[in-house]
Amino acid sequence: MVTPFDNSAPALRVEGLRKAYDDVVAVDGLNLQVLTGECFGLLGPNGAGKTTTIEICEGLLTADSGSVEVLGRHWESDARDLRELLGIQLQDTQLSEKLTVDETLTLFQSFYRDARDVGEVIDHVDLSEKRYSRVGGLSGGQKQRLAVACALVGNPQLLFLDEPTTGLDPVSRRQLWELISQFQAEGRTIVLTTHYMEEAERLCDRVAIVDHGHVIALGTPQELIDAVDVSHLPPPEPRKTSATLEDVFVSLTGRTLRDE
Ligand SMILES: Nc1ncnc2c1ncn2[C@@H]1O[C@H](COP(=O)(O)OP(=O)(O)OP(=O)(O)O)[C@@H](O)[C@H]1O
Ligand SMILES: [Mg+2]
Repeated sequence: MVTPFDNSAPALRVEGLRKAYDDVVAVDGLNLQVLTGECFGLLGPNGAGKTTTIEICEGLLTADSGSVEVLGRHWESDARDLRELLGIQLQDTQLSEKLTVDETLTLFQSFYRDARDVGEVIDHVDLSEKRYSRVGGLSGGQKQRLAVACALVGNPQLLFLDEPTTGLDPVSRRQLWELISQFQAEGRTIVLTTHYMEEAERLCDRVAIVDHGHVIALGTPQELIDAVDVSHLPPPEPRKTSATLEDVFVSLTGRTLRDE
């Protein structure tokens, strides 16, 4: 039995997290708290340490130091429970090309005791037409949606989505936004990364901007927007009277967004 979790506790608590690869310090004293029921965005330039942080929280990587508490549990002592409670979509998901969509999800479903119906999840990510097609024959965006379906099929309490909408067409992107909103409306928690500031503004209750492995700004998108001084933005931005989350990002990290 998975022990019930305390709704009043933060869904995720990260303190003093550090992870280095040889001479690269990927995560450098990162602190974070995500509340239960929140949609929380991790934003930041390429190489800022977002994926490394998320993968430590997912129990896939071990930190050099610091602590991580997920749904009131710790990976060292509660890994079995945690695997049942988390939904994970990796930035670069590699699924078996030879399996069909249905077989892939049936396989993932078998890992969980309280799983969702495979057909329902396939419907949810709009892959019904491809249900019996092999993964190898799916388009990039369809594979991406299948990866999200794999994260959902275990009926998770906390969903980690690492760039879930990268490469999706505008309609698929909006469908995924809807799916995330529905998931949140059930009182569940989402932690996502994105390079699309409009997406973060729309979806996230709070965002953290990460740079060089630690959080450099934290708040609701509106709080961060209100705090930016438009007169200091590089041209042609100063002509604008109000800022956007993208302006906040550029002004804080001093770099431009990845080309996509
Ligand atoms: N397996 C690895 N071996 C060596 N260095 C790594 C490894 N994984 C990540 N890094 C380095 O750690 C830093 C943080 O990488 P990470 O993938 O966490 O960034 P990110 O914020 O997710 O970036 P992106 O927006 O491009 O996905 C980068 O400098 C990266 O080169
Ligand atoms: Mg990443």
